[in-house]
Amino acid sequence: MATIIVVANRKGGSGKTTSSINIADGLARDGKRVLLVDADSQAQATIGCGIIPYQLESSIYELLHLIAAGLSVKEELKSTIIKGQKHFDLLPARADLSALEIEVAEIDNRHVLMKDLLMELDYLYDYILIDLPPALGLISVNSLVAARWLIIPVEPTFLSMDGLAQMVQILYRVNAELNPDLRLLGILPVKCDLRTNLAKSVLDEIKQNFGEDKLLPPIRNDIKLAEAPSFGQSIFEYSAGCRGAMDYGTLVTSILTRSGE
Ligand SMILES: Nc1ncnc2c1ncn2[C@@H]1O[C@H](COP(=O)(O)OP(=O)(O)OP(=O)(O)O)[C@@H](O)[C@H]1O
Ligand SMILES: [Mg+2]
Repeated sequence: MATIIVVANRKGGSGKTTSSINIADGLARDGKRVLLVDADSQAQATIGCGIIPYQLESSIYELLHLIAAGLSVKEELKSTIIKGQKHFDLLPARADLSALEIEVAEIDNRHVLMKDLLMELDYLYDYILIDLPPALGLISVNSLVAARWLIIPVEPTFLSMDGLAQMVQILYRVNAELNPDLRLLGILPVKCDLRTNLAKSVLDEIKQNFGEDKLLPPIRNDIKLAEAPSFGQSIFEYSAGCRGAMDYGTLVTSILTRSGE
């Protein structure tokens, strides 16, 4: 059974996609069978893996529609999941994913479409990573229902703390109403300049509020992390020796330990 990890924060630009791609590649380079699911209609995880969304004939959108209609996805899965491009497999998205929320709004099982879809794949992978959009719409809720673990990436600024508190409230609501098994794997500080007092005091605040064990090893600011997606590459492909690759490497080791591997 795959360990399903969702990477979420309602704040835009908080490092969700960067972290999803690099954690997926890091786990895959450690020998794990990994699927990265792009659950964002911005399709940035897809683009960051070097795939052009509008050229795709099939994407997560079609698969979720088949599930919503109670149909089999077996054949469509084979033609949709992109293999061989990276060390990990990719379930890509296109812009049309944004329409799904309205199209399935009346369906009874609308909250479990992602869970049902991933159950079809679960035996093929050790880890499934889901990259969420900033909006907490139906696809995000579906992903929180499907997952075992939540990673919340945050920039260490005081304004980000509000978004972090909101995400933790969302976790509690999902636990109470939809998925009691979802757990916080950790809060992931990203784009950190650890020399600044601001970063240090925000990290201290996270430790005080959530416990030291919920603080994942931080990812420092590294321009190479911002450059890599424009080449369709993970940081391990783009610049294996850089700061960003070292930090994501350390993070992956911590995720393997925390998720019980
Ligand atoms: N550690 C880092 N150092 C430097 N730049 C970074 C780092 N992490 C992310 N970035 C850059 O910050 C921007 C936002 O990151 P990213 O796209 O991962 O955020 P996101 O949370 O997925 O955004 P959205 O909410 O729009 O989906 C991107 O330009 C990315 O390249
Ligand atoms: Mg993103």
